Amino acid sequence: MTEQQKQAVRESWSQVVPIADKAAELFYTRLFQLDPSLRHLFKGDMAEQGRKLTMTLNLAVKSLDRLDQLTPVLQDLGRRHVGYGVKDSHYAAVGAALLWTLEQGLGEAFTGEVHDAWAATYGLVSGVMMDAAAAAA
Ligand code: HEM
Repeated sequence: MTEQQKQAVRESWSQVVPIADKAAELFYTRLFQLDPSLRHLFKGDMAEQGRKLTMTLNLAVKSLDRLDQLTPVLQDLGRRHVGYGVKDSHYAAVGAALLWTLEQGLGEAFTGEVHDAWAATYGLVSGVMMDAAAAAA
């Protein structure tokens, strides 16, 4: 990722943080529209789940310049996701729901540049998670 992309992610994320709970709710609604079969994987309280997801994304955004520290955290997360029944093929729907949610939250601030920067961020995060999951199999 370029420095400019990292900056676009940081700036846009700071606009989403104040509405994070609402954004998380939108995200899961969208995700289950895109793939209703994913709903049964989630067993717990969805508001709590939304906060965990937001916290992890927050950590990822804060760590874009310290990927060496972020990578082991994401590897553990990816391995745990195998236990939740998550497959590689599920990551595309999550990425699409994430980008859609950011678009809803940011409105006109969701420019092509911001879209691409977040797509790169999600690609990076999900790539590390999937690689670790595959290596653990
Ligand atoms: C960037 C990608 C993702 C991030 C940052 C993320 C983050 C998290 C976090 C922080 C948790 C809390 C539990 C833990 O820490 O182990 C969690 C649980 C979970 N995630 Fe993800 N996740 C991602 C991708 C996915 C994908 C692609 C799926 C597929 C549907 C998924 C499904 C789940 C499920 C089923 C749980 C457990 C829910 C439960 O206990 O009821 N996640 N995720």
